[in-house]
Amino acid sequence: MEFKYELVPEAERNPVIQDVLKVPFGKVFTDHMFVMHYRNGAWEQGAITKLAPLPVHPGSIVLHYGQELFEGAKCFKMKNGKFGLFRIDQNIARLNNGCRKLKMPEVPAEVQDKAIRELIKVDQRHIPTQDGCSLYIRPFIFGDEAGLGVRPSSSYTYCVLLCPVGAYYPEGFKPTKIYSDDIYARSADRGTGDVKCGGNYAASLGGGALAHQHGCSQFLWLDGQHHKYVEEVGAMNVFFVKNGIAYTCPLNGTILPGITRKSAIELLKDSGIEVREEALAIDDVVASIQNGTLTEIFGTGTAASVCPVSELKFKETNCVLNKGTPLEGKIGPITQKLYDLIIGIQRGTVEDKKGWISYV
Ligand code: PLP
Ligand code: COI
Repeated sequence: MEFKYELVPEAERNPVIQDVLKVPFGKVFTDHMFVMHYRNGAWEQGAITKLAPLPVHPGSIVLHYGQELFEGAKCFKMKNGKFGLFRIDQNIARLNNGCRKLKMPEVPAEVQDKAIRELIKVDQRHIPTQDGCSLYIRPFIFGDEAGLGVRPSSSYTYCVLLCPVGAYYPEGFKPTKIYSDDIYARSADRGTGDVKCGGNYAASLGGGALAHQHGCSQFLWLDGQHHKYVEEVGAMNVFFVKNGIAYTCPLNGTILPGITRKSAIELLKDSGIEVREEALAIDDVVASIQNGTLTEIFGTGTAASVCPVSELKFKETNCVLNKGTPLEGKIGPITQKLYDLIIGIQRGTVEDKKGWISYV
């Protein structure tokens, strides 16, 4: 499929951001976007055009019933000077999996792949070179038919945006505090927790606000059925290291099948660390932090990569990991190792044995 190119004249393009680390995550976009419409049962020709507001009818299905999905991926300036995409095929497949669930038309994988690569080529001068920075890729799709009946839209827009980004959390790769409570759940059994639909994130805002009220940066999500098992943290998958074994919630249909999670499981196993895809109960997590057997917690996700946790507050109970030991308030060795491996592969300083990087 050939795309249309309606490029911004060179002289009118935005200046390249010099210090990306100073820009809040996702607040600055590149000059162009990719847009493609689905009309009369087929995808029309896609276009790379100036980043601009989209004409959306106020009666559009997405605005009323939330028929929408998004993805998040990254492109890195590698040590060899090339631009590398990390496991983009997985993001493409996950979007289409979500489309099937939300009754939206799939976007052919080769069209998504080409749209992302062509858009990056056009805006490549915005790919940050600074350490810890990358180009965040945000593909999304929504139902844009005007109509107030609850049903799948008959027309759609697929769009890709790019943002030069630094760390997702302003604190960067530093130990954070997380909060948990059983009064909120982000997803329900047999619901939409395993796809990246916008509604899941709206549902998570209450928990996020509560975490902030408690002086914590993220909410640790318990399952929506028993309100007991730990599933995710913020917009990340979560791992616990207990007695030297790494635990993470299984893909049970309520958590997002994270690409960083999947990569982390492989990398940890390759490093000789036992990984169990088993959900831990929050009471077990609290007790194990307090008796010193649970020594590391970290979140994994595209935006934040690996996010170390040094403290968990569950309701009124404050649990400091490795309290009174030299590791208190520090990044644990397994968390650090995983971070170094993932960042290294993404930057090209660690050999990409698995073929996870593809060049633009
Ligand atoms: N869980 C949720 C709810 C997310 O939004 C994300 C972010 O994409 C993740 C987990 C991590 O997924 P990935 O590693 O594919 O970015
Ligand atoms: C990501 O990690 O890519 C995410 O999508 C998380 C967040 C920005 C919603």
